[in-house]
Amino acid sequence: MICLSITCQMKIIVKSDPADLGKKAGSGAAQIIRAAIKKNGFANIILATGTSQFETLNQLTREEVDWKQVTMFHLDEYIGLPESSPASFRKYLKERFIQKTGGLRQVHLINGENNPAEECLRLNKIISNTQIDLALLGIGENGHLGFNDPPADFKTEEAFIVVNLDEKCRRQQLGEGWFHEIGDVPRQAITMSVKQIMKSAQIICSVPDSRKAQAVKDCFENPVSNLFPASILQQHPHCVCFLDKFSSALLEKNLIDMNIQ
Ligand code: GLP
Repeated sequence: MICLSITCQMKIIVKSDPADLGKKAGSGAAQIIRAAIKKNGFANIILATGTSQFETLNQLTREEVDWKQVTMFHLDEYIGLPESSPASFRKYLKERFIQKTGGLRQVHLINGENNPAEECLRLNKIISNTQIDLALLGIGENGHLGFNDPPADFKTEEAFIVVNLDEKCRRQQLGEGWFHEIGDVPRQAITMSVKQIMKSAQIICSVPDSRKAQAVKDCFENPVSNLFPASILQQHPHCVCFLDKFSSALLEKNLIDMNIQ
């Protein structure tokens, strides 16, 4: 990791494989949630989806957490994709998280079938004045955060925005097997904006797999740039990024060694 500003405190932890990474990221997330509940009586979290979150959510849902005190926000969702689709992120979150908790305080899913502008307004009202304790994130093969593909909008103050998905992003979704053919992958999505993501008090980023190695290098060894959207994490005061030996393979070894655990 290149710390180009004196405020850069992002920590990189390299684990051996995705399972190991997920265990550490999920138990770390649970600790943060428990601490927020202890302090405030409740916790507000943001959840990403995608393959990078499989192991992290698996561990998180095994942890002792008073889920009835936890409010969940949803990071991103395709526009126009029904929940019945295997690629639906609402379906993903219901099956891989919500149902396993036995009930949360509140759940704010993005409904990509609603009018997109109205859906963003609805969610913007809900999240305004909400302090988010923890965001669980992934990084796309193109370096995206949420669905903020490059060049990402680092400036908008809107919490939820409508975005066009770039070719690399759409090909990633196809490659992961969520869709049968490229024409099936939606061209637009609703995503939490970069500024809103960065308002989270703490961030845990889970990034396994060799498919992410170039994006990890681009985002963590370059100066912060909207061409590498996840590079913004270098500026977050409390962000831990969990990699595995595959996703960290292209990072400068002397940089990793300082952070390896
Ligand atoms: C996905 C999702 C995000 C996720 C990121 C990384 O497509 N839109 O919520 O954090 O992009 O994806 P994946 O975990 O599939 O590699």
